[in-house]
Amino acid sequence: MKHRIVVSRPVPAPVTERARTEFDATLAEDRDMGPDAVLQALADHDAEGLFLSSNLKLDAAMVAALPAHVKVAATCSVGYDHIDVAAAKARGLVVTNTPEVLTDCTADLAFLLLLNACRRAGEYGAIIREGWGRSFGMHEMLGIRASGKTLGIVGMGRIGRAMAQRAGGFGMTVLYTDTQRLPPELEQGATYYPDLRAMLPHCEILSVHAPGGAATDKMMNAETFGLLPKGAVFVNAARGGLVDEDALIDALKSGHLFAAGLDVFRSEPNFDRRLDALPNVFLTPHMGSATFETRVAMGNRALDNIAAVLDGKPAIDPLWT
Ligand code: GLV
Repeated sequence: MKHRIVVSRPVPAPVTERARTEFDATLAEDRDMGPDAVLQALADHDAEGLFLSSNLKLDAAMVAALPAHVKVAATCSVGYDHIDVAAAKARGLVVTNTPEVLTDCTADLAFLLLLNACRRAGEYGAIIREGWGRSFGMHEMLGIRASGKTLGIVGMGRIGRAMAQRAGGFGMTVLYTDTQRLPPELEQGATYYPDLRAMLPHCEILSVHAPGGAATDKMMNAETFGLLPKGAVFVNAARGGLVDEDALIDALKSGHLFAAGLDVFRSEPNFDRRLDALPNVFLTPHMGSATFETRVAMGNRALDNIAAVLDGKPAIDPLWT
């Protein structure tokens, strides 16, 4: 008998196809299911597995409302700040995420933000689309050189390390901070700072790769932005919650920051429009993992997790053990 699941969000065709053939699945066809629709679908379908993504909050109320037959919730994301882990644990729900498969694409996008912010790509794109029409002098519209800079990384997990690897190709010096120092083989020459505040004054570019949630909320604020050297570039492809956006906007307006590259925002998808009014911000709409290959791999990993749990095996990527 096939396992009964609900897939609450449209997924790439190969994942839909697999969900249809290997599972008895109720699928969100062309738009996301909201919480009420998810609960209804789980109940109507007598489902044991829920495939979700970061747009569906699995908070305490949602966990409490899940029908008793739901055994596993697999989020198709590496981040899980949309999930109340304590409530899910207490309910006996198995919850999984999709680490590893999105590391490279997310680091690629963070590096894209870095280069675009340093080299004013947003402004150049706007100029060319408006017809260009006037040669720029040797002194005009200058960016800053990215190659050879000192890059600070906050959070040296898989994605932070992939970012450091890319930085190596651009001759950058890499500094990092995290709750613990990495073993030397994972550090790959990067210099560890136990304290974020001690690292910031040395970072010409700063890229954050920490998880969202209460512990990291607004870790980048007026004080910490102020510790960066004047003219620094800030990159965030992790979570918008890490940043006090008022402080970021002030630092960009005053010129304390040269530029920022942002894929994530405190409020999504309706982000603070003061940000896109600033010329020195390069923005993308939370697309770190958004390549065909990676989204298919993520969808498959979430399905693998659901299948394992419903087959009575250990989850591949449990959020806790
Ligand atoms: C994306 O933001 C993810 O957590 O996978």
